[in-house]
Amino acid sequence: MYSIISRQQLNPTVVSMEIHAPLVARKAQPGQFIILRVHEEGERIPLTVAGTDPEQGTVRIIFQIVGATTKLLGEKKAGESISDFVGPLGRATETEGLKKVCIVGGGVGCAIAMPVAQKLASQGCEVTSIIGFRNRDLVILEEEFKACSAKTILMTDDGSCGRQGNVTVPLKELLEQGERFDRIFAIGPLVMMKFTVAAAKPFGTPVTVSMNPVMIDGTGMCGGCRMTLNRNGEKVVQFACVDGPEFDGYEVDFDEAMSRGRMYADFERHAYEETCNLLNKEVQ
Ligand SMILES: Cc1cc2nc3c(=O)[nH]c(=O)nc-3n(C[C@H](O)[C@H](O)[C@H](O)COP(=O)(O)OP(=O)(O)OC[C@H]3O[C@@H](n4cnc5c(N)ncnc54)[C@H](O)[C@@H]3O)c2cc1C
Ligand code: FES
Repeated sequence: MYSIISRQQLNPTVVSMEIHAPLVARKAQPGQFIILRVHEEGERIPLTVAGTDPEQGTVRIIFQIVGATTKLLGEKKAGESISDFVGPLGRATETEGLKKVCIVGGGVGCAIAMPVAQKLASQGCEVTSIIGFRNRDLVILEEEFKACSAKTILMTDDGSCGRQGNVTVPLKELLEQGERFDRIFAIGPLVMMKFTVAAAKPFGTPVTVSMNPVMIDGTGMCGGCRMTLNRNGEKVVQFACVDGPEFDGYEVDFDEAMSRGRMYADFERHAYEETCNLLNKEVQ
């Protein structure tokens, strides 16, 4: 069992937890993820390592409550435990040689982007962070980004905090004003990553995106996270869990990824309703 050392509500639907998992804490690098199960018969879900404290043996996860399993996890309190916490999985972010980088994070994707920004800053890289949310109530990790970035631009869809608009607006402005980045890291909804790639393309700036297809085993065996890359005119099949989760944004077939993401919608809705029914029965 893995103890929950602390639990913090970052916004109405996003929770940060520190889990006691010394082996994972010792090895995990930014960009990698873990797979957990809340209880022994639970579903396996992947979550990114948002930070580690190897001395305390803790791993930080930040997750949005979107369905059955994240709901159950979100209801756990500090002092309680979860049954499985496996990792680190996936490839670590490649940061070597980068001197000036733009991090573009959308929504809970900011939780995945933050450790990448922190690692780059710790290597002396100049980081510009553009973080976007639907409205002010959903803003998370603003202070953490400010602490590791030379410049942080906060965007909200409705303008209730920071500037109004989506994250590609300031990115385009910076590029048009002559800012040049060695690389852009875009992490968030598929549509946001797709348009970040489109914004960077005229300037030839490399873009790394973080893909989050449905994952089951996380070890390249089940094929659940299969995705297609267009590499030099050839279609190349990759597994996000072992070949990623980060990929060259110019190679990703975002339209295919979006349609695969919708395949499980009915099943997930059913699982969520079942959880709610179970919870309702427990309450009665
Ligand atoms: C490598 C990776 C890292 C991730 N890191 C984070 C993170 O740091 N924070 C965070 O909030 N979310 C993260 N996610 C997404 C997270 O795994 C899903 O939100 C979670 O699995 C939802 O489960 P659920 O039962 O609560 O919701 P469900 O109702 O089952 O699903 C809601 C949505 O979550 C996604 N999803 C469901 N099951 C899985 C699965 N087994 N694998 C991947 N996606 C799934 C689907 O897009 C689905 O539409 C990550 C996903 C991947 C693949
Ligand atoms: S999750 Fe099974 S192959 Fe990637």
